[in-house]
Amino acid sequence: MIKSFGNKTKVAVFISGRGTNFKSLFYFSKKKKSKVQICIVISNNKYAKGLDFAKKHNIKFQIYTFKNSLRDELKVLQILKKKKIKIICLAGFMKILSKEFIKRFKGKIINIHPSLLPKYKGLNTHIRAIKNKDKFSGATVHFVTPKLDSGKIILQKKVKISKIDTENTLAKKVLKIEHKLYSAAIEKILKKV
Ligand code: GAR
Repeated sequence: MIKSFGNKTKVAVFISGRGTNFKSLFYFSKKKKSKVQICIVISNNKYAKGLDFAKKHNIKFQIYTFKNSLRDELKVLQILKKKKIKIICLAGFMKILSKEFIKRFKGKIINIHPSLLPKYKGLNTHIRAIKNKDKFSGATVHFVTPKLDSGKIILQKKVKISKIDTENTLAKKVLKIEHKLYSAAIEKILKKV
């Protein structure tokens, strides 16, 4: 399990794009009673919007394309070790990490996924839920294992799909709950220490 000894638990956030989940994690980390500190952001995309937020708030970040995934993962591992990172939060990180990387951080990598897992692993979750005429969708925070979107669920929250929902409106609804769910999931795993 994740151990924090009095001081704040050091977190790395991995992003690929917009970074709104990263932003909400950052604001959560800045709360008075927060037990986490975001020490580094890793992005595989130099144009990721979330990097602007990192710059603005003086959060250290590093960009690795992960095109040579072995080389880049080794470099990332070195940084995480140097910074004593205890939790990795994947927040819209659209690269699949290698089995070796995941093993190295076993039980310490978590991900947010825009569906009620185990439904709709992978991409295009909202349109799949609408096409299947599901009554509910939602978001899930889970531990990352080598099998895509299949690790143990930490927290999940539902939203209702209305008849007039489109992929866009549903994505917005789900994103809104994601922002609360991610920090609640971190609190939950830290309480278990
Ligand atoms: C979020 O909806 C997140 O759940 C999803 O990407 C979006 C990132 O938004 N993640 C995945 O689909 C991972 N399989 P953000 O960059 O604004 O946080």
